[in-house]
Amino acid sequence: MNRSENNIFKILLFLLLTLVNRCRGNEQCSQVLSDYFQSSGTRAAIQMTTIYPNGKILYSRGNSLFERGFSNDLSNVDSYYGISSTETACFQSKEQPFSVKKSFVNFFDSRSFSISRDGFVSIYSVSQGSVSFNLTSCRGQILYGVVNDVLYTFHLVKDQKYQMIGRECGTEPVYDDRVQFVTKILGSWVDNGDTYSTFETEIQNVGNLEINALVFNQEGMELKHPSNIWGVSVISKYQFSLANYIHSIAPSQYVKFSYIARGMVPPKFTVSYISPK
Ligand SMILES: *[C@@H]1O[C@H](CO)[C@@H](O)[C@H](O)[C@H]1NC(C)=O
Repeated sequence: MNRSENNIFKILLFLLLTLVNRCRGNEQCSQVLSDYFQSSGTRAAIQMTTIYPNGKILYSRGNSLFERGFSNDLSNVDSYYGISSTETACFQSKEQPFSVKKSFVNFFDSRSFSISRDGFVSIYSVSQGSVSFNLTSCRGQILYGVVNDVLYTFHLVKDQKYQMIGRECGTEPVYDDRVQFVTKILGSWVDNGDTYSTFETEIQNVGNLEINALVFNQEGMELKHPSNIWGVSVISKYQFSLANYIHSIAPSQYVKFSYIARGMVPPKFTVSYISPK
C-alpha cells in the first residue's frame, strides 16, 4: 500500500469501528428514548428508584429537560428530592418507612443527572454518590440498569411536571423566621429601551439554627443573560441553592449574591428547602 491508500484504509477502519460501537449501544433504549429527543425543549417528569444489595430502597422524583443550549441529554432541572426505606417515622401511631421528614436532596446543580439519547446515564448525586452506566433494558416508560449490584430504575412521563416531595401542601411554606432576603440596587441603566439593574441580595440567617443547605425559588427575576448571576448555584431559571463553597450560614450571619436583571423592582425569593429543618 502506498501512503494515501494507507490513510484511506485507516479512515475506513475508523468508520467501521465507530459503526460497530454505535450498534453495540442498546437499540431498544435508543428507540424508547427517541421520544424525548425529537424536539428541543422536551420535558420529562422522572421517578427514580434505587435498590441496594442490603435492601435499602431510595425513591426520588423530579423534572428533566432536553434543550439545545442547556443540555444535549435529558438533564435534571431541579433537585430530585428523595425518601428512603430506612428512614422511618411514627406517623399517626403507625410505623412508616420513607419518612418525608427525612427527605434528602440528590442534586444541588442542574445537569447532575443525565440520560443520553443512546441510554448512557450519569448521576452525580450529593446523597447517592456518582455513577455512570449504560441502561440494560427499556420497555415503554420504564428504563433500568444494574451497576455494582445496585439496581437503578427510571420511570419517565413526557411533558409532565412533578411537585417536590415534602413540599408543604395546603399552604405555601414560609420560613420567614429562619431566612430573610434583603435586596439592594447597586445601579440601573437603560439598554435598547429596557431598564436593567445590578442587584445584590443578602441571604440572612435570622433564626437560631445554623443553615447547612438552602434551596430557594424566585419570582419576577428576569436575568439580562443567564450567566449574569454570581454567588449562588443555579438549579434552574427559577430555583437556586447556596454556592458550593458555602458550607453553612451561622445564626445572624449572611451570604451575598448578585445579578443583573430587568427592571428596578427587587425580585421575590422564597425558601423551598432548608436543612436542618
Ligand atoms: C456504554 O456503551 C458505549 C457504547 O455502546 C461504550 O463505549 C461505553 O464504554 C459504555 N459505558 C459504560 C460505562 O459501560
